[in-house]
Amino acid sequence: MRPPPADAKEECLLDARAIGVFDSGLGGLTAVRQLRRLMPSENIIYFGDTARVPYGNRSRETLLQYARQDMRFLSRFQLKAAVVACGTVSSNCLEELQAESAIPITGVVEPAAARAAALTRSGRVGLVATRASVASGAYERAFLRLDPGLEIKALACPLFVPLVEEGRCRPGDVVIETVAREYLAPLREAGVDTLVLGCTHYPLLAEIIGGVMGPDTALVDVGAEAARSCRDLLARRDALADRPAGEARFYTSDRAANFQRLAALFLGEDGAVQVEQVDISQY
Ligand code: DGL
Repeated sequence: MRPPPADAKEECLLDARAIGVFDSGLGGLTAVRQLRRLMPSENIIYFGDTARVPYGNRSRETLLQYARQDMRFLSRFQLKAAVVACGTVSSNCLEELQAESAIPITGVVEPAAARAAALTRSGRVGLVATRASVASGAYERAFLRLDPGLEIKALACPLFVPLVEEGRCRPGDVVIETVAREYLAPLREAGVDTLVLGCTHYPLLAEIIGGVMGPDTALVDVGAEAARSCRDLLARRDALADRPAGEARFYTSDRAANFQRLAALFLGEDGAVQVEQVDISQY
């Protein structure tokens, strides 16, 4: 995306710069879907690191290296804000990325914890996320800051991301339904009334997870909460764009065709998206 032309006064006043978004793969597109719903005027640059997905079982050092490369790639564009649409990176390296960046960066943990704390009636909140997210304790710390009285039951669900990346997320799919029932049994037993879907891949499983947990459990979509938080941040800074329709550009570190195949499902939109492959090792 080109920088805004110097004479585009009106656009510059309304901050025409894009919002950068990255994830380990396709999951972050669920956050893009919400960003586009909330802020249809904004331009979005998305990077999905499909060559190195999943991030969820990696060490903190590797995650930081990957996340820095992802941010360096996004920094090629004129950005006014970035969203780390990856629960794993948000849980493990958000502070480093924020400290190193000249633009504000929103993660998914704080906004989702705030939403769950506001929703729960019993004070018993569940969290499903990747291994690295759960091991980091970041969600628990966020809950503790909000309300030390909350009881948090956190569970790693490492098979969810590869199954979603394979498109195995539809109700009736016996594999994902079996895995979900087995993973979620301890949360049902714990009687949580609110469940944070702590990974941006998981909203694709909302119907299946909701079916297992039952109608009395509220589900929190971390991508949607991060999108809301990003919108509020831009509004506070008077940095929202005001054009009839923004555009989104998509970049991936592995074959574009694979990304394209599933992007519409994640975005909830019809039609193929334009995707470009980049060599992330260059960043
Ligand atoms: N969407 C990423 C997250 O939110 C998936 C992590 C992974 O790649 O394992 O955690």
